[in-house]
Amino acid sequence: MSKILCVYFSRTGKTEALIQDIARELGCEAVKLEDGVDRSGLGGWLRSGMQAMARKVPEVKKPETALPLSEYDLVILGTPVWAGRCSAPVRSFLLQYGEELRSVAYVITRGSDNHYEQVFDQMDLYVPHPRKRAVSIRCGTVGSSFWRDEFLAGIRDGREDG
Ligand SMILES: Cc1cc2nc3c(=O)[nH]c(=O)nc-3n(C[C@H](O)[C@H](O)[C@H](O)COP(=O)(O)O)c2cc1C
Repeated sequence: MSKILCVYFSRTGKTEALIQDIARELGCEAVKLEDGVDRSGLGGWLRSGMQAMARKVPEVKKPETALPLSEYDLVILGTPVWAGRCSAPVRSFLLQYGEELRSVAYVITRGSDNHYEQVFDQMDLYVPHPRKRAVSIRCGTVGSSFWRDEFLAGIRDGREDG
């Protein structure tokens, strides 16, 4: 059975719910990133948007995981889209630890109809190998469970057993 880890950030819980769902389906760990920045309310919204636009990278704590990051066969990264980019905490994680990740897949959540596929390319800049899979989901819409299931099927198909 391959070793999979989910790492995510979520400000208002949508990415968190989706990633927890994916982790439950795959039977794998899911860890949330913490950067100690107050992202609550209007001030937090503005701060988050400005950090994403400026590509600011506040330091994130290394998440506690069962194995060292380099020992996972696949790390699934979950992030909300902020100002057309990946969230600042996920960018920070990628900058700090991206080189340790052997294989990655991305789950991005968004509030609009735009799919923001350029965010996948931005995230690929921080890892040694381009993503294996990626999905962009607008949580709560009719198609969201279809796209989640398609992503899961792709992960399961690519999984090496034994
Ligand atoms: C600062 C900020 C900027 C955002 N920018 C975008 C955006 O450019 N495009 C978009 O579709 N949604 C945008 N959103 C909406 C979030 O991506 C969307 O609601 C996401 O699912 C929230 O995930 P979360 O609940 O895990 O934080 C933005 C949200 C925030 C807080």
